[in-house]
Amino acid sequence: MRLDKVIKGGNVVTPAGTFTGDIGIAGEKIAALGASLDAEGAQVIDARGHHVIPGVLDVHVHLELPFCGTVSADDYRTGTRAGARGGVTTVIDFAIPYAGESLGQAADNWHKKAEGKSLIDYTFHICITRWNDHKDQIKEMVDRGFTTFKEFMIYESEGWQSDDRAMFGTLEKMKEYGTMLLVHAESARVLDELIARYHTPEMMTKYGARLHRMTRPNFIEAEAIQRAVQWSEATGGQLYIVHMSTAEGADIIRAAQARGVPVIAETCAQYLVLDDSVFDREDGHLFACCPQLKKPADVERLWKGLRGGEVSVISTDTCTFTREQKAMWNGDWTKIPMGMPGLETLLPLAYTHGVLEGRLTLEEMSAKLSTNPARIMGLYPRKGAIQIGADADLAIIHPQRRETVTPSRMETNADWSPFEGWQLAGFARTTLSRGDVIVDDYRVVGREGRGQWLSRTSAGLAGMGSGAPAMRLSRGPLAPIRAEELEIAGAS
Ligand code: URP
Ligand code: ZN
Ligand code: ZN
Repeated sequence: MRLDKVIKGGNVVTPAGTFTGDIGIAGEKIAALGASLDAEGAQVIDARGHHVIPGVLDVHVHLELPFCGTVSADDYRTGTRAGARGGVTTVIDFAIPYAGESLGQAADNWHKKAEGKSLIDYTFHICITRWNDHKDQIKEMVDRGFTTFKEFMIYESEGWQSDDRAMFGTLEKMKEYGTMLLVHAESARVLDELIARYHTPEMMTKYGARLHRMTRPNFIEAEAIQRAVQWSEATGGQLYIVHMSTAEGADIIRAAQARGVPVIAETCAQYLVLDDSVFDREDGHLFACCPQLKKPADVERLWKGLRGGEVSVISTDTCTFTREQKAMWNGDWTKIPMGMPGLETLLPLAYTHGVLEGRLTLEEMSAKLSTNPARIMGLYPRKGAIQIGADADLAIIHPQRRETVTPSRMETNADWSPFEGWQLAGFARTTLSRGDVIVDDYRVVGREGRGQWLSRTSAGLAGMGSGAPAMRLSRGPLAPIRAEELEIAGAS
């Protein structure tokens, strides 16, 4: 077989384990894996002394999102360039209908944002914000290739908030269509009450941005996760909890999975490496996001959940705001644009603080960043694994080389980073997307607009074949993938 490119001599992470050898690429696909492939006539990419991992899927991003009275500052151009530098080859954004719009109009709007700009492949979760109007539009979206839907339990002022009736009804439909509901789980009414209690000039002068953590105790997230899990259990509809930040949440998910509830949980890199002491900083307001950063004990529990299996995915919830945008708070924490940049640092954080610090193996990290998200979101085996027939989406990283996080030298539009000054390994020396080199020698070289929209037909555990239990998603992708899918020639 004629190969166009051969990646030579890397430490290759596949679903069946790691081997030192070569990856052959023909067109956009991985065509061969082997200990030593014939590279005659092919472009050779030297990966000796490097790890070669499947391209990362960041399945939780908000690019160019109108939110909190402004628009998030990374669009499909800067956001996907930032992702590529961190080995991200697929993003999933959230298409949110505005003011009277249908689900279809929301998808059309998001297509326009991405087309001509995205460097990497993408698709959208479709957000259901007005149940009465949207409930009969869900099937049409499934037919259009969208299999993941989203509801927010908060954000009433944005017009996005869903109630229990909507969640229950949507989960019934997810069961019927083999699709999945993502939920932002925070308890709106109690949160409103706590915010109202503290929202006085005296409190704001005294506590500033600390009020963000003071008004969101862990039970705000825990109660909401419990309630969403209840509706999943009652309906049998596939549920996915986004950006889980608490130890209590991880406990609830573990118990629910043990009784067979079809629920999957995601956390984000920031909840694994930061805690709410950042709100004591003078620039603490920059770190405001929903849910907010929690305590060191929560951080440890989330790492444990990644190892134990109740946390299946690490994403970013990228929702970038510049210092100027964040300054809109002007002393009132309820007016801070909520969210942080993250796409560029997802893999470096997971690699440095997960793999290099001994919390995850390389294979486990690759499962949480690539294989699990691809399977859960209905993109596997096209995305998420190094195997014959998959898209040639790959990240080549040096095992040790570190870089200081410096916003002025980064691709993100953010003029700050939650991780500024941190020394991180795991930035991509080379990123390939469908066989194209889009990052070379740590610099973005790919063409804007080359990214393609990804159509899907399933999601959740339904997308993993019959009977795949939630727990098996967790410990790396080894168990559920058959060895014959891999066809590794001569690999040790
Ligand atoms: O603070 C955040 N997370 N901003 C983005 C919107 C959301 O809730 O995911
Ligand atoms: Zn959210
Ligand atoms: Zn989000």
